[in-house]
Amino acid sequence: MEKHTSVLLKEAIDYLNIREDGTYIDATLGYAGHSGEILKQLNKGTLIAFDKDIDAVNYSRTKLSKIGDNFKIYNTGFINIKEVMEDKKVDGVLFDLGVSSPEIDEDNRGFSYMKNSKLDMRMDQNSKLTAYEIVNTYTKEALTNIFRKYGEEKHALKIAEKIEKQRNIKKIETTYELVDIIDKCYPYKEKRLTHPAKKVFQALRIEVNNELNEFEKALKDSLELLNIGGRVVVITFHSLEDRICKNIFKQASEVNEVVKGMPDIPLNLLPNFKLITKKPIIPRDEEIRRNSRSKSAKMRVIERIK
Ligand SMILES: C[S@@+](CC[C@H](N)C(=O)[O-])C[C@H]1O[C@@H](n2cnc3c(N)ncnc32)[C@H](O)[C@@H]1O
Repeated sequence: MEKHTSVLLKEAIDYLNIREDGTYIDATLGYAGHSGEILKQLNKGTLIAFDKDIDAVNYSRTKLSKIGDNFKIYNTGFINIKEVMEDKKVDGVLFDLGVSSPEIDEDNRGFSYMKNSKLDMRMDQNSKLTAYEIVNTYTKEALTNIFRKYGEEKHALKIAEKIEKQRNIKKIETTYELVDIIDKCYPYKEKRLTHPAKKVFQALRIEVNNELNEFEKALKDSLELLNIGGRVVVITFHSLEDRICKNIFKQASEVNEVVKGMPDIPLNLLPNFKLITKKPIIPRDEEIRRNSRSKSAKMRVIERIK
């Protein structure tokens, strides 16, 4: 069985429009579900893959070696995409954001509110900032801000206050200790709708891994790396990621306001990109039934046209 079930696998590969001699980047290698399919289609081409997580990199290196040797893996954040690629252009870039199933399921990573573990949440096991650090050292104001901004958590202040009170008695060490604190801040009737810890855990994960800032930069850089005809395919799992993608794609593919409406817009003022998906692609019911983790996925695609 696969360690991670890839989301929108066929759709993402189809939309990448792979040329057998092209160069493709998988910015989020994970367990090489998408990368494996890309590599199978590359005859003379090359796959370049990134992942912060050393476990994912080690597993996927072995998996991809069984398909071919025309790939290179970087155990680094996709924030470094431009530096790694230097001046080399590519024919496609894939982002399949978020965490892999092993990151959520393994006992020691601290991503899941359903498992008891040390508060960690680092994708890159060598980075310094952990969820433990944030929960136990950030000010009440900073915690409130993060829970609001990255979790859209309406009980943010109450939860931050409770954390501050609790950690003054004893440091908050584990996921379950944190879940317990959050649980006490949630009104009973809201608990039936969603797990009370869901939003705070999302917020902490985003802060630990600097997810939104890195994605925004890397997505802009990816557009610059594209050859004409090349595409960027992005799969997001929550509204904050999707909003960033939607806005960047919109800006890149829209005619400049100043010249909009002119009868003959000079070629150099026309956008360099064309939106391929006017509305995001979402998984079919059958995929959601088979893999419940796919249910919040949205895929957007853009192509360089000049
Ligand atoms: C949803 S999984 C990708 C799964 C993969 N497409 C597959 O089918 O096996 C996301 C992966 O991206 C990695 N990741 C997330 N943000 C990253 C970043 N900023 N830089 C590099 N890797 C990142 C995570 O560690 C995780 O392994």
